[in-house]
Amino acid sequence: MSRDLAVVHGYAASVRDTVEWQALSAHREALNGVHLRDLFDRDSNRGEQLVAETDGWLLDYSKNLLTDETVELLVALADRAELRHRIEAMFGGEPVNTTENRPAWHVALRQPNPPPEVRAEFDRMAEFAAEVRRGRWQAVVNIGIGGSDLGPAMATAALAAYADTELDVRFLSNVDGTHFREITRGLDPLRTLFIVVSKTFTTTETLSNARTARAWIADAMGDEQAGNHFAAVTANPDKAKDFGINSEAVFAMWDWVGGRYSLASAVGLSLMAAVGPEAFADMLGGMHHIDEHFRTAPWAENLPALLGLIGIWNRNFWGWPTYAVLPYSQELAPFPAYIQQLDMESSGKSVRADGTPANTATGPVAWGQPGTNGQHAFHQMLHQGTDIVPVEFIGFCCPNHELTEHHDLLMANLLAQAESLAFGAPDAGDPHRQFSGNRPSTIILGDRLTPRTLGQLVALYEHKVFTQATIWGINPFDQWGVELGKTLATAIAAELSGTAEPNPTRDSSTQSLINRYASSR
Ligand code: F6P
Repeated sequence: MSRDLAVVHGYAASVRDTVEWQALSAHREALNGVHLRDLFDRDSNRGEQLVAETDGWLLDYSKNLLTDETVELLVALADRAELRHRIEAMFGGEPVNTTENRPAWHVALRQPNPPPEVRAEFDRMAEFAAEVRRGRWQAVVNIGIGGSDLGPAMATAALAAYADTELDVRFLSNVDGTHFREITRGLDPLRTLFIVVSKTFTTTETLSNARTARAWIADAMGDEQAGNHFAAVTANPDKAKDFGINSEAVFAMWDWVGGRYSLASAVGLSLMAAVGPEAFADMLGGMHHIDEHFRTAPWAENLPALLGLIGIWNRNFWGWPTYAVLPYSQELAPFPAYIQQLDMESSGKSVRADGTPANTATGPVAWGQPGTNGQHAFHQMLHQGTDIVPVEFIGFCCPNHELTEHHDLLMANLLAQAESLAFGAPDAGDPHRQFSGNRPSTIILGDRLTPRTLGQLVALYEHKVFTQATIWGINPFDQWGVELGKTLATAIAAELSGTAEPNPTRDSSTQSLINRYASSR
């Protein structure tokens, strides 16, 4: 083992001290003052060369502030961090989630020949979803939060064109009672099925919503039958049964599937009810394609690895703290929110897997909205603000509708935004009208949004996140940062409901706010 890159629990301990990192730092200095206009002028084929492709997807990264040499140096960094070895560990089901001592084996869910328990659960889901689609239910409401909501909610919106139009599939997540009211508005309790999705079956938001849903059903038809209106997806089946859900409607997930990586598991049951088992299987096929591509393609041709390495370049060597994910697809409107959990819950760490402080910047802020709406909201800042925000544009050549003129206009806008960010405009004289350009973006272009390409897009981002975490030496599969807030909220909730005394050691701000809230109720 080399002294400057001790491998602790399989994670690179100090990538910043490696010669590969230092070479990138020096290379970045050498790019000072270089404009994207210069890079394109120097090489008329740049736009055709700095691209990678797989199965109809094109990743055009030519409008980033980098050169061929940058890519070579980033590839060397990936090798130094033992990315290939880490991928094999993850794919091999090794306990890569070191703080919880378990695998993060979501790739096993989408193998053509998955482990028998995965296959069996898929078959049960398919049967259940087919039954749901036979017409007994008017609506399916998924109750879950975080990874038990964002993935299936995003995918159900994304695949609306492939869904059963007779079945209304909705997603209830927020503990705010307004959400329950909104989501159940207009639904007939007698024809509504709730799917409670919670890996732990202890998440307070989900259980509160599930209890309210149960009371809502019981009000309409009595408590005895209410259990028949519920299914559950959980790694804690006893708790689901205690809640009164019939065991044949309880679907398994496993502790080796992380919440934000769980779309391919039974967490996708409501999605499967919406689009059917075949489309769901197509999505798994798309995921598997990218899994294999990530595992086998050389880094310089590897879409997820390149996306991750460019993320490292922008975050660590240019120092840009955020990036925007801008799908030019209304169907992908929830995609940025999905990416926020996937990326920020995975990469928002300041301690490395070996327990030492991170000595490089780690996860950036991910944010975004669908185009073209964002153009009339925050693109002003992207074009003329004092901070640089690298953009990942996502678009498709063919729409899922027949309004082709709209689609041409939509895609013209995507291309124009990337063009103007990169190249700006000639000096307009008036300083307010200046577009300096030199603002980086990547274009991820697919043929059409389908179950398969959606699966590919999801896996592309999962493995981008993995690539970055491997370089930083952090564990992308835990989320201890959300725990303290949960504990404090439980204690405060007990006080608000009068079942606990005030905590005498609490800070004066929180305590006086609690008092003010209590006195106005
Ligand atoms: O937000 C924290 C978190 O633990 C997420 O990681 C997870 O996806 C979500 O809560 C929901 O957890 P569960 O599926 O156990 O209800």
